[in-house]
Amino acid sequence: RRIVVLISGSGSNLQALIDAQNTPRLPHTRIALVLSNRKAAYGLTRAANASPPIRTAYLALQPFLKANPGKTREDYDREVARIVVREQPDLVVLAGWMHVLGEGFLDVVSGHTVLQGEPAPPTPIPVINLHPALPGAFDGTHAIERAFEAYQRGEVERVGVMVHRVIKEVDRGEPVVVREVPCEKREPLESFEERLHKAEWEVIVEATRRVLDEAKPVRVSVEFLRVARG
Ligand code: GRF
Repeated sequence: RRIVVLISGSGSNLQALIDAQNTPRLPHTRIALVLSNRKAAYGLTRAANASPPIRTAYLALQPFLKANPGKTREDYDREVARIVVREQPDLVVLAGWMHVLGEGFLDVVSGHTVLQGEPAPPTPIPVINLHPALPGAFDGTHAIERAFEAYQRGEVERVGVMVHRVIKEVDRGEPVVVREVPCEKREPLESFEERLHKAEWEVIVEATRRVLDEAKPVRVSVEFLRVARG
């Protein structure tokens, strides 16, 4: 199975997927492409350092608009979709991707809109997004800090992370995996963040595996089992 991963930052969640690909945690799966909208994203280095190295691409909104006067944000989103669909992935994973992808993107990866000169994906390509909050709370950016502060103020009892399906409403798609992360009163944000990121690295692999298995279950050949059993 092939996945495309979109990043904007350090790529620690991408690293979790790199380390899991083609292992029992994520069998018969490889990352076909890593796309970043930030040139300085360390995740691009992680992809290049993988063995074998993972192809990368870079496409940022502002340079795209400057290079294409008259084009819009929706054109950018369609261009992102074009790059993704060309890889014919079974799944797109947004791992710390800090750009809200609009209908231009979703319509193309779901096959509703066909870009001229491009083959439409044979089936809608599922898209999942990692969000460092529990469903229904703290949508949008700086979710970690906002949830942490709300917990410290006693406004929420529970905090955590989730991976959800990407739909038009930001951070509102159906959750695929939800994981509560313990938080201590008066602990520093850094120690909570460290605990939360560790949870993310597990959840992003688990959610990727789950959605891939929905579409393409991994069938272990009988022969393999017989040999494996010896
Ligand atoms: C993660 O906390 C993710 O939830 C948020 O940005 C961070 C990305 O981290 N959207 P990394 O780039 O995967 O290290």
